[in-house]
Amino acid sequence: MKGLVKRAGILGMGTSIPQRVLTNHDLEKMVDTSDEWIRKRTGIVERRLLDKGAPAFGMGVEAAREAIADAGLKPSDIDAIITATISPDYLSPSMSCIIQSHIGASEAAAFDINAACSGFVYALGIANQYVLSGCYRYILVVSCEAISRLVDWQDRNTCVLFGDGAGAAVVGPVDEDHGILALELGADGTLGHNLTIPCCYFTPDDLAKRAHENKQVIWMDGSEVFKFATRALVYAAERVMEKAGITLDSVRLVVPHQANIRILENAMKRLGVEMERVYVNLDKYGNMSAVSIPVALYEAFREGRLQKGDYVLLVGFGGGLTWASCLLKWNR
Ligand code: ACO
Repeated sequence: MKGLVKRAGILGMGTSIPQRVLTNHDLEKMVDTSDEWIRKRTGIVERRLLDKGAPAFGMGVEAAREAIADAGLKPSDIDAIITATISPDYLSPSMSCIIQSHIGASEAAAFDINAACSGFVYALGIANQYVLSGCYRYILVVSCEAISRLVDWQDRNTCVLFGDGAGAAVVGPVDEDHGILALELGADGTLGHNLTIPCCYFTPDDLAKRAHENKQVIWMDGSEVFKFATRALVYAAERVMEKAGITLDSVRLVVPHQANIRILENAMKRLGVEMERVYVNLDKYGNMSAVSIPVALYEAFREGRLQKGDYVLLVGFGGGLTWASCLLKWNR
């Protein structure tokens, strides 16, 4: 059956968001910060955290089950599972293998990818190629992050920014007028030192940047990442539109990575996109890394902001440093 599929698209979606809420006011009691500072400088009001001691994969399993059911499929229909995560429970087995065992997708190949906050769109890109080549028919893409476990809760520069969650999508064949029209995936590894989470190896510089006992935590040069993020969003959005041969005016909704409202406002201003056409939910969840884009896309669809035939632009940036964008013609 090789080569018969002309276009891949999203057939179903699911999410899982932890119950536990951490507000800006809660953070005021933990570090030297204020609700006013966090709202003004980031737009974040609260975020959700996984319960201490709970595994992250539970969120991925829940999101995956919902996405498969939403696509009208059974777990045994899934040919491959790709999980985008930078906060796996284990380095081995992969999050994808754990999810596979829990949902019973016994026919599926399973592996994880790490492209930080760009991970969901990178995974969509891989899934797209599998479907178009005829190699696999139904790919489960899962984003699953428990960034709260990688945060130094005494570092106000980072601990106010992140939240936990999972989002999933089933990618498969769609009619050739809809689905994934173009992708732009990129990275600039020379800037990687601006956002690091050491795991098994630490340089003296890594140790010096981390103040407290637990050294396996995020360190970030916020203003360097901020500048990169604005540039990367503009570049990735322009490139993918060029590849698709469609102008930004035609896009019904931009679903960006949800890191900071000021980054989004700056980038959208440069792109000439009004904020009314940008989906924002970072006030409720903060930055969920690879999970931000699928959860935003899921909520936008559920809220009726996407109709069949609409052009939707997914665009993000993240650790690596990486960027990724995807133009979809909504097929649902
Ligand atoms: N509460 C109060 N004050 C704070 C806080 C806080 N939570 N955090 C920093 N400050 C202080 C700083 O210490 C600094 O004080 P100083 O002037 O006395 O030194 C002052 O506020 C200004 O700091 P800046 O870093 O200049 O603040 P900025 O406006 O740049 O905001 C922020 C910081 C929110 C981190 C911003 O730079 C940002 O959002 N950067 C991008 C982060 C990002 O998007 N990361 C995504 C990648 S994530 C991934 O891939 C996993």
